[in-house]
Amino acid sequence: MTLLVTGGSGFIGSNFIIEWLKNSSENIINLDKLTYAAKLNNLSKIKDLKNYKFVKGDIGDKELIDTILKEENPRAIINFAAETHVDRSIVNPEEFLQTNIIGTFRLLNSSKKYWDTLNEEKKLGFRFLHVSTDEVFGSLDQNEPPFDETNPYKPNSPYSASKAASDHLARSYFHTYKMPILITNCSNNYGPYQLPEKLIPMIILKSLALKKIPIYGDGKNVRDWLFVNDHCNAINVVLDKGIPGDTYCIGGLNEKKNIEIVNIICDILDELLPIKNQNISSYRDLINYVSDRPGHDKRYAIDPSKIINNLNWEPKETFESGIRKTVKWYLNNQQWMQDFIDINYYQ
Ligand code: NAD
Ligand code: TYD
Repeated sequence: MTLLVTGGSGFIGSNFIIEWLKNSSENIINLDKLTYAAKLNNLSKIKDLKNYKFVKGDIGDKELIDTILKEENPRAIINFAAETHVDRSIVNPEEFLQTNIIGTFRLLNSSKKYWDTLNEEKKLGFRFLHVSTDEVFGSLDQNEPPFDETNPYKPNSPYSASKAASDHLARSYFHTYKMPILITNCSNNYGPYQLPEKLIPMIILKSLALKKIPIYGDGKNVRDWLFVNDHCNAINVVLDKGIPGDTYCIGGLNEKKNIEIVNIICDILDELLPIKNQNISSYRDLINYVSDRPGHDKRYAIDPSKIINNLNWEPKETFESGIRKTVKWYLNNQQWMQDFIDINYYQ
């Protein structure tokens, strides 16, 4: 049996593959374009395993996808591949449309052609799991209930609009062709291997360099944080037990304002790596409020009742335990982060 994972060299995909291979001898093929967001050495520990194979390529490359599907006969496809950073989507949206919309469409279309060739038993067992985000639902006011599977789509950034479009395409392949599609909409992830363009590793990167930590606007925007392994575990559960055609909202009930996140990380760093500098006594002294992100969504939050009640999933990590693990991982893997610092974007 074989699983085709796309975007497996990025943040969540790497964590997914590493965890999967700890518990399964099933073959995994990782198809990744290796954009700026990928790091092959995320997977250096598993790269020589007999049941792991890497293919460099684009989910929008029809011929390549057709060939992989024909030769490898996967029983499931998990689509992580995407352009994922909101700030980049504001500056340069086109790549987001290309990968997230056209790429996902082509992957769906090739998968449908492949699925049509399967016998009835394999057709029924096949799954296409499209990994998506809570950002497709737009922004919540302070007193609104968290998003669940019934919320209308109201994406606000080119990133979330492109992910929303990809979700709609995935949905249409279930309704039109009856392909066994599953969609997951997860809240903000954090953990090892996340690029320091995203908030949590950005805070750690800037702190370790004793540079200013940029907080957009008033720092009161809220995100609902989930440790990446809990997300990966939820994807496994949905793949296993999810009902084709259904969508599943995933979140850890961990709403925090950005400024709270910064303060928590600064306090952990003060404890683990006290500053030896006469001008600064705490990493909190590095906090720097900067201009707000255009169209900055105020609040995201997920009500995960459906996946908890119907599929028996629950997050294992509390925010306190997950963030401590994460900070320690970055402290122990400073070279990993250092590799990105030369790129202007991160300075
Ligand atoms: P990431 O940016 O860290 O990694 C994306 C990976 O996809 C990279 O390895 C990149 O090389 C690859 N990729 C990009 N375009 C490709 C293409 N055209 N063909 C093949 N590979 C391509 O992203 P991530 O944070 O790991 O997110 C993975 C998925 O999870 C995305 O679909 C994202 O929308 C979704 N998601 C992310 C979060 C989060 O907090 N990070 C939360 C919810 C959902
Ligand atoms: P981010 O990690 O980019 O995820 P998303 O925008 O997809 O939720 O940002 C998380 C929050 O942190 C968001 O409200 C924007 C804010 N933020 C900052 O204040 N400073 C930063 O340097 C970054 C990258 C994000």
